[in-house]
Amino acid sequence: MWDKVQETVTYIKNKTNFTPEFGVILGSGLGSFTKDLAIEFTLSYTEIPNFPVSTVEGHQGALVFGKIGTKNVVAMQGRFHFYEGYTMQEVTFPVRVMKYLGIEKLIVSNASGGVNPKYKVGSIVVLKDQINMMPEHPLRGKNDERFGPRFVNMSEPFSKKMISKVKEIAEKSGIEVFDGVYLGLQGPTFETLSEYRMVSKLGGDCVGMSTVPEVIVARHMNLETFGISVITDMGNEESIETITHAEVLEAAKNAEPHVRELIRELILHY
Ligand code: HPA
Repeated sequence: MWDKVQETVTYIKNKTNFTPEFGVILGSGLGSFTKDLAIEFTLSYTEIPNFPVSTVEGHQGALVFGKIGTKNVVAMQGRFHFYEGYTMQEVTFPVRVMKYLGIEKLIVSNASGGVNPKYKVGSIVVLKDQINMMPEHPLRGKNDERFGPRFVNMSEPFSKKMISKVKEIAEKSGIEVFDGVYLGLQGPTFETLSEYRMVSKLGGDCVGMSTVPEVIVARHMNLETFGISVITDMGNEESIETITHAEVLEAAKNAEPHVRELIRELILHY
């Protein structure tokens, strides 16, 4: 893994001498964040050695390097999900690559199903914690100490400092944000009504099929991490019958300008 990561980093560094400080993973329907970037360089996943190739509709598959103000950012347009058939090491490979390209902070976004009754479709949730209920673990196997320790402290998966900065920004801009716990399941099925109830009983406020492994690997390498979720459907009796991937993308699109603003301002002022 170490050698593969270094090989990929060397390839990218030979193409651009841009050194990112922030990494951003763009989830379903949030890809237009790249419009906020003064783009310097784009690399399609297909041309990056050792990178998996994205298969999901709505995920485009490119690393985009650019500036927000004076801050250097690399954005992943499109991510890899466990349910697509990738191993957890493949799912999280780009996070390792971004770390050795130079990032110190990682911002992760996603679409999720809401089980907290305070949420509505389109609500924006700042993640304060996560619950790993995925069936595999990205750190299973021999640990490579060059990346990080065997036993990773997960008492603060999401940076309290970044959370309070974003809440401050939201307050100033009049954007309503909630906070919540993200529970990760493998998918690709959306939850049954009973599974949504389970998520709630286990302590989740929202549920999705991504993010958890990426955050674990980010914390393994001591990246400061921030997570944000758009509620694209509510796990309750009224809405459960109608959820489709198209509806998820549509709901995420509507919240997109606000999520974009929060992330842009966080990067500018953090
Ligand atoms: N469940 C899991 N993943 C999701 C959901 C959901 O309800 N909505 C968007 N992604």
